[in-house]
Amino acid sequence: MGVLDDCYNVADFRRAAQKRLPKSLFEYIDRATEDEVAVRNNRDAIERIRILPRAPLDVSNRELGSTLLGKPMGMPLVIAPTGAAGLMWFEAELCLARAAKAAGIPYTMPTGSLVSFERVAKEVGGRLWFQLYVWPNRQISYDLVKRVADAGAETLVVTVDTPVNPIREYNIRNGFGLPFRHSLTSLTDMTLHPRWLFGTLLKYLIADGMPKLRNHPAAFNDARTRPAIAPQLGLSDTVDIPEIHRLRAMFPGKLLVKGVMHPEDARNLVAAGADGVIVSNHGGRNLDAAMATFDALPAVVSAIGGKATVIVDSGIRRGLDIVKAIALGADAVQTGRATLWGASVGGEAGVTKVLDVLRGELSAGMANCGVRTIGQITADLLVR
Ligand SMILES: Cc1cc2nc3c(=O)[nH]c(=O)nc-3n(C[C@H](O)[C@H](O)[C@H](O)COP(=O)(O)O)c2cc1C
Repeated sequence: MGVLDDCYNVADFRRAAQKRLPKSLFEYIDRATEDEVAVRNNRDAIERIRILPRAPLDVSNRELGSTLLGKPMGMPLVIAPTGAAGLMWFEAELCLARAAKAAGIPYTMPTGSLVSFERVAKEVGGRLWFQLYVWPNRQISYDLVKRVADAGAETLVVTVDTPVNPIREYNIRNGFGLPFRHSLTSLTDMTLHPRWLFGTLLKYLIADGMPKLRNHPAAFNDARTRPAIAPQLGLSDTVDIPEIHRLRAMFPGKLLVKGVMHPEDARNLVAAGADGVIVSNHGGRNLDAAMATFDALPAVVSAIGGKATVIVDSGIRRGLDIVKAIALGADAVQTGRATLWGASVGGEAGVTKVLDVLRGELSAGMANCGVRTIGQITADLLVR
């Protein structure tokens, strides 16, 4: 029996990832910010939702497909951007993109990736979205937007909920940081996880030295030039609506804004030309007092009033969570940790299995609610 055979749900993948990954990497994925209130709150809000199912009904031949931004989806799910995914499994970005393509869903590549966007576009293709952290050096950011547009990015996802470095003490204690470096603590941690050490880190070292952030300019990956350029490529605390206007004008594809919680911001962003918003609190990783995304979602949906796309994330662990999100008015959900745990445990096969598990749960959830299609999942199912 392989590890994947023992994983029946997302929680199993989390436990398997904990065994394979060094503690520093497992905690980087799993944990959140400060006292980790927001991450619990997200789950509480999802688990509080009650459904009043309909029966008896013929719910055979269920159809999980839907449409997002004008294109068909295998199911209403998008793989969210998770920075440095390639640290968990050798070139995990390619694995995530391949599994997404096979499932007929988009993969969002984050700015911070160990494989370049161009390489994923060339070697995998499919519906590729690119997540942008707008850097303080705007010109280098705009050059990156042009690069991914030229390489065929379908959608630009601009993340706006991370103006400063989040407070995550566990990363400091564990010696985790990007670019990837080693300390006595992290070396011990790595040595205690030989499957990861040989299956992931060693492969990078043999191929091309320490893992590098491939969407960043080359100067960032060279220890001699990094100190001068790194501050220009950090987080920016000056991203505002005019900036979204500028990005809208320069990117030819769809534009989504990620990390939107307030209905007024959603309305303003759509007025600024965004094709939609992603209701997200970054998986509870940034603002520890953030409202749960499932609590914020209904007001955003009604503010947008069907004029643009609404996606929600932060806390999706079961297919039934997707049913709840759609019933609350979302067009689709995103998974961050779930699919990254899959990649951490089994690369492409691991991500594929996580997607299969979620698809199976979504299908069962729909049958149990008395619906056959995604379109039939409406607010009528919700207990108010
Ligand atoms: C390890 C990790 C890295 C992440 N990196 C990014 C990132 O680079 N950019 C971004 O917009 N969101 C990032 N996120 C947030 C995800 O895109 C997503 O909003 C969040 O994971 C959703 O919550 P979930 O993990 O409970 O599914 C990251 C999340 C995790 C877990």
